[in-house]
Amino acid sequence: MNKDLIDLLPWGEQAVLELIEDAAAQKRLLKTRGPDTEFAGRTAALYFEKPSLRTRVTFEVAMNQKGGSALMLDAGTIGIGKRESLEDVARNLERWLDVLVCRTFSHKLVEELARLAKIPVINALTDVSHPCQAIAFAQTAIEHRTKLDGLTLAFVGDGNNVARSLAELAALTGMNFTLACPSGFELPSDFVSQVQPLFSRKGRRFSQSNDPKAAVSGADFLYGDVWVSMGQEGQKDAKASHFQPFQINASLLDAAGSQALVTHCLPAHRGEEITDDVMDGPKAVCFDEAENRLHAQKAVLRRVFRATGRL
Ligand code: CP
Ligand code: NVA
Repeated sequence: MNKDLIDLLPWGEQAVLELIEDAAAQKRLLKTRGPDTEFAGRTAALYFEKPSLRTRVTFEVAMNQKGGSALMLDAGTIGIGKRESLEDVARNLERWLDVLVCRTFSHKLVEELARLAKIPVINALTDVSHPCQAIAFAQTAIEHRTKLDGLTLAFVGDGNNVARSLAELAALTGMNFTLACPSGFELPSDFVSQVQPLFSRKGRRFSQSNDPKAAVSGADFLYGDVWVSMGQEGQKDAKASHFQPFQINASLLDAAGSQALVTHCLPAHRGEEITDDVMDGPKAVCFDEAENRLHAQKAVLRRVFRATGRL
């Protein structure tokens, strides 16, 4: 069992499917029996270099609802690599904590923390990937469509961290995946070479297209995200004109077909990558996915706690 959740691919199909099932089980448990004490005595720390609403709140609430506790580390105060080396920070944190949840710019930093610390490390979003979001999407997709195998997910927008984790999820679970993006904003070619064979092996399709309407046609889910990710604010003006044709609006939804549902990792920039009428309309499941972040975080925590003998 993997000690850390940095990305979905290294976990493999079986573990990811178990995680998604457990997320649903955690939701049922909460709704039928309420909070429990499975994490009694366990402490999570959240090290966040970037803003967050959903990820921070759901990890904190997940720990609390299961009888553990969570604390927020002030990234500025700790000063990794400035006040103290990364290695020494890791060697301190592992003495007090049961899990470290990290949201950083650098993906390497999270990988390094995972390598250096004996406690589990969970990637709560880096510039490269956002695996916890993909688990919550999977849970939501199953709630609305029964199973993932054979579904088609069309990510509309930037080939970013969320797109990458969703592509990993799709590769592992037998979904077709399409990225509809402006030319030059595709997923990196080394990543594509890594996942393409996984899709082919299952008889599924991975594609990237610069034609939004053609790309979404027949999709079960359209997935939106901001055009400019955290840390890239300087690119806002340069990107806007490229991305305008990739707005998720009534016309794009119509091109997708009546079967299509819409989701978004949130926060949404309404009026940019998604319109109000779509986001507040009957096809949107964004807030179901946001709710499921809570249950998915519990499943992730349970798994890394089990992997390290904490459960
Ligand atoms: N989707 C998501 O990760 O939201 P936050 O940035 O608010 O945590
Ligand atoms: N791609 C976005 C996701 C936010 C949850 C970002 O990195 O800012």
